[in-house]
Amino acid sequence: MIHYGRAAGTSFVLDTRGSGVPLLVHWGGDLGPLDQPQLHRLANSAVPAIPPSSIDQPLRLSLLPALGEGWTGRPGITGFRSEAKRSGALRFTLGGIEFVESSSQGIISVAFELLDTAAAVVVTTELHLTAEGVLRLRHRVENRGETAFELGALDMIVPVPDRAREILDFTGLWTHERRPQRTTLGHGLWSRECRHGRPGHDDPFLTVAGTPGFGFRTGEVWATHLAWSGDKRVWAESSPLGPVVLGVGELLAPGEVSVPPGDSYTAPWAVFAYSDQGLDGLSHRLHSWIRSWPSRRSAVRPVVLNTWEAVYFDHDLSTLERLVDAAARVGVERFVLDDGWFTGRSDDRRALGDWFVDARAWPSGLHPLIEKVQAAGMDFGLWVEPEMVSPDSELARSHPDWVLGADSLGPPGRLTWRHQLVLDLGNPAAFNWILGRLDALLTEYPINYLKWDHNRDLLAGSAHAQTVALYRLLDALRARHPRVEIESCASGGARIDLGMLERVDRVWTSDTNDPLERQQIQRFTGVLVPPEYLGGHLGAPVAHTTGRTASLGFRLGTALFGSAGIEWDLTQASPAELAAITEWIGQYKALRPLLHAGVVVHADASDPALELHGVVSPDRSVAVFAAVALAAPRSALPAALRFPGLDPARMYRVRPLSVGSAPRTIQDAPPPWLENAETTFSGTVLARVGLPPALLAPEQVALYSVTAVD
Ligand code: GLA
Repeated sequence: MIHYGRAAGTSFVLDTRGSGVPLLVHWGGDLGPLDQPQLHRLANSAVPAIPPSSIDQPLRLSLLPALGEGWTGRPGITGFRSEAKRSGALRFTLGGIEFVESSSQGIISVAFELLDTAAAVVVTTELHLTAEGVLRLRHRVENRGETAFELGALDMIVPVPDRAREILDFTGLWTHERRPQRTTLGHGLWSRECRHGRPGHDDPFLTVAGTPGFGFRTGEVWATHLAWSGDKRVWAESSPLGPVVLGVGELLAPGEVSVPPGDSYTAPWAVFAYSDQGLDGLSHRLHSWIRSWPSRRSAVRPVVLNTWEAVYFDHDLSTLERLVDAAARVGVERFVLDDGWFTGRSDDRRALGDWFVDARAWPSGLHPLIEKVQAAGMDFGLWVEPEMVSPDSELARSHPDWVLGADSLGPPGRLTWRHQLVLDLGNPAAFNWILGRLDALLTEYPINYLKWDHNRDLLAGSAHAQTVALYRLLDALRARHPRVEIESCASGGARIDLGMLERVDRVWTSDTNDPLERQQIQRFTGVLVPPEYLGGHLGAPVAHTTGRTASLGFRLGTALFGSAGIEWDLTQASPAELAAITEWIGQYKALRPLLHAGVVVHADASDPALELHGVVSPDRSVAVFAAVALAAPRSALPAALRFPGLDPARMYRVRPLSVGSAPRTIQDAPPPWLENAETTFSGTVLARVGLPPALLAPEQVALYSVTAVD
């Protein structure tokens, strides 16, 4: 049988004929209506020639490629039994297949079983094509033998066409996440490995293989991401003998996953997306899919004020009360008390694990503050870091065996990081204790939101068990407190992945509030994650993380495009600044339905110093765009603003939009259309010809509102 799935401009062809492991004959653009005879011809014609000096049959890439099939690239599965003298090549034959086209959710799914009777292992593969055209793939391996099966790897590998030779992925540092890097794939294996026990600040994040020079709007791209928050590897491979492949899977430490007889291991979902319209096409597909998840809660993200950069560890009720008043006056909707509230937490060197409200700083508990917050019309959020423990804490002193790695290394051998260790969530006593503590806090206080932090790498070789337990902890807490929203933070953006996103409502995109850094971080984090999840805060004029000074307009225009908030001691802001912030919040609330449900678009810039990005409503009737000057332009007369993503046939009115602070310009006179304050053109003209921009000084944002007038 040849299985053909089509959705939203993409398709796959899966050949499950014969007794071998099924073959993905095609994954990419939609091939249009094809009947079974045509599909058979297509699958037959995909069989390659037999080259000299090779196996004596055509080399085919299966969905679980292995040496036994003649595949000498990285295999799909490795493992052994310790009593066996050598691991031997696994060789699977096809068992049962199930093909389901679920009309309710529009998901097309294929599941099949692969048996290696000699090795006594069975792999079950599930492949889904969602209504939005996202391909999901995962394998499960079951041990049918009498002894433990030591799993080395179980990876998801798919072919991409030979023309997908340019690889884009990401690297980064604390406060500089999601730096893009590109490479051209030659012969060999190009592989990224994450051993942080979390994706890390240098997370490859989304790995994209595309036609040379692909951009935001152009080129064919095939992308993959592992929906997993622990260790992983992701690669692209090409050889003189086989097709180009993309692979992804959990990175397992030796001995980390030993599957007992009768038991199984399920790989995380590998997510694949294709677009023939560059990165924006990928984002559109991925965002639409994420927005359809049943686990997703309200998309209305309240405006947050987070206390971190305002007061740090200095928790004084009257200071915080003044901040509450200032926040309420500008229109903040949620007040979040960051680190520093629990027993003995006077700095970052102690007390993680002692999750009781500090009686010295808070003699009446958090109640007076929360009452004040609620009386001011806001709801309340609290910072926690449940997976961590400070060596200097009551918790570590009374339960030294709850520290991750304590058994293998023994005190005092564990490396601290930000002066902290990791709580072993795989230990049932530690797990139950932390679940109980969080539950008690959420029961005692009307907390609507947790900022859930994770400030170190695990460095313990047991990321699998820890990640599984983390998911269990989040799931248990969500089940007990369904109304509590969660923001995932890991020293900023060191744990932003689709495993986490399924369980949280917001991510802290980066610890930097410097808008110049943020422009790039948000731009590239947003390729995968929809903007309503991406926390972005208005910081102080001088950024705490870089020392760079930024204008209010640049800070406001940058924080607008996400889940907006404030992280600044507003009691220090001038009346003019407070008035601008109030106007900004008002605009944000009015634009929120568009910003948080629309299609994210970017123009491909000819000058890297000038960027144009925006959000277009799904029906393409309204849009908001930001023209961003990151630095001085390359030329005195920069390229026109060409607005992407509009309906070519409709007429649109374009107007500058003020959100509290006008951008600084370096022009003697603006272009005439801006002097008139508006103009009207078709989507075609706006995309092809565009409009001359205002000449922005470096580090400024000009906003435009675009509305259909037909
Ligand atoms: C991490 C977070 C910050 C802040 C501090 C508190 O660094 O990323 O936003 O919450 O912890 O200690």
